[in-house]
Amino acid sequence: MICGMKLVIAGKGGSGKTSISGTMARLLARNGHRVLAIDGDSNPNLALTLGIAPERMGEMPTLSRDLLTRTETGATLTQTLDEVCATHSTVGPDGVSLLVMAHPQHAGTG
Ligand SMILES: Nc1ncnc2c1ncn2[C@@H]1O[C@H](COP(=O)(O)OP(=O)(O)OP(=O)(O)O)[C@@H](O)[C@H]1O
Ligand SMILES: [Mg+2]
Repeated sequence: MICGMKLVIAGKGGSGKTSISGTMARLLARNGHRVLAIDGDSNPNLALTLGIAPERMGEMPTLSRDLLTRTETGATLTQTLDEVCATHSTVGPDGVSLLVMAHPQHAGTG
């Protein structure tokens, strides 16, 4: 079953947004939900929170611009979401699929 829940967490820097997002994603996945997490932050804290080992970060693919095309009705994916996930996602130990939009520019958390 595809769950349509979208969750947005906003707050000041270092207030635990990434930690709570990653923890909720892992709990949902452990409970059998199909969870796709998308990290738009250039600092890969979400991957760490999802339990993905730092050594795997270098091999994680990032989303390229040609996955999107502009049409009269707005931006559209050039592949299905399943195709994008098959080629671009990294799966964490609890089964959360992660898409990252950029590689780390700098190390460190929070
Ligand atoms: N409930 C908590 N108790 C103690 N420490 C926490 C808790 N939640 C997060 N932290 C720690 O606080 C720091 C900041 O957390 P986190 O990276 O989740 O914040 P953030 O809001 O995503 O930050 P940023 O705005 O930089 O992306 C991290 O070192 C994290 O381990
Ligand atoms: Mg964060």
